[in-house]
Amino acid sequence: MAGFHVRSVLVTGSNRGIGLELIKRFIGKPNPPEVIFATCRDPEGVRAQELKNLASKHPNVVILQLVSGMEPTRAYKQSRILSPETTDSASIKAAAIKAEAHLGGTGLNLLINNAGVMPPSTLESATPEDMLSVYNTNVVGPLLVTQAFLPLLKKAAQGSNQKGMSCSKAAIVNISTVLGSIEKTPETFSFMPVVSYRCSKAALNMLTKCQSMGYKQDGILCSALHPGWVKTELGSAQADLTVDESVSGLIKVICELSEKHHGVLMSWEGNTLPW
Ligand SMILES: NC(=O)c1ccc[n+]([C@@H]2O[C@H](COP(=O)([O-])OP(=O)(O)OC[C@H]3O[C@@H](n4cnc5c(N)ncnc54)[C@H](OP(=O)(O)O)[C@@H]3O)[C@@H](O)[C@H]2O)c1
Repeated sequence: MAGFHVRSVLVTGSNRGIGLELIKRFIGKPNPPEVIFATCRDPEGVRAQELKNLASKHPNVVILQLVSGMEPTRAYKQSRILSPETTDSASIKAAAIKAEAHLGGTGLNLLINNAGVMPPSTLESATPEDMLSVYNTNVVGPLLVTQAFLPLLKKAAQGSNQKGMSCSKAAIVNISTVLGSIEKTPETFSFMPVVSYRCSKAALNMLTKCQSMGYKQDGILCSALHPGWVKTELGSAQADLTVDESVSGLIKVICELSEKHHGVLMSWEGNTLPW
């Protein structure tokens, strides 16, 4: 970890919960990134106030508006399956253009796809709207964000003189969950069914594996991380871990990621989890 130096990082869904704490931890590092892109859906909204306060004190924090997902097609709009305010690939492209301008010719070292949703959903209650909108945010979002920022990640990898893979060079970290692990489902299902969420995170795990195959030759490390069960709006007040405990673990794991973690699902404690 001593040699860890991420020059630039981007975290999606960073106005609250795990994303906001990740931003705070990057700011507080002894060798903080020179540029910390903190993305959120509504930078002018009340829910972004804490992030805005941080950015006003730390010039290396750059807030970008980004909605994780795709814009609804006409058919979807007509059927009102996807709501425009939760889906917007144009905002992703616009954020990538702004980030590129801000980086001034250098690449992006670390992309953390953190934004996610977990509405209640059982085998009985799951609806097409629920399944599609959760998939859109939790899977299509990370896919589109990665596509948009890939040229900057490649630039970082090409510009690095480091051997091997690491977050200091170029990396994609998808914040997933053990609830997306098919092998672990018998142990976790009765405790938390959340069917639409589980299916979307299993798909995010597959996306991570596909990205690890596709971007290996570019030297871009791709991993999925499970943050534990965390006391956030998504995780609820009954969760096991404080945000502080979870993100301390996540940061340690992120700092230590290397080739052996490429295409792997890891827990916040650094253990490998089965897909
Ligand atoms: N908490 C847990 O126990 C737990 C466990 C396992 C995995 N995770 C994963 O950890 C990640 C962060 O979760 P969290 O617990 O920090 O949740 P959270 O406190 O509810 O925060 C979710 C973040 O995602 C953003 N977001 C939601 N939908 C979005 C969209 N369509 N576009 C852009 N941003 C969007 C939210 O923005 P708004 O403020 O605009 O809504 C918010 O910033 C998620 O991927 C989640 O699946 C959490």
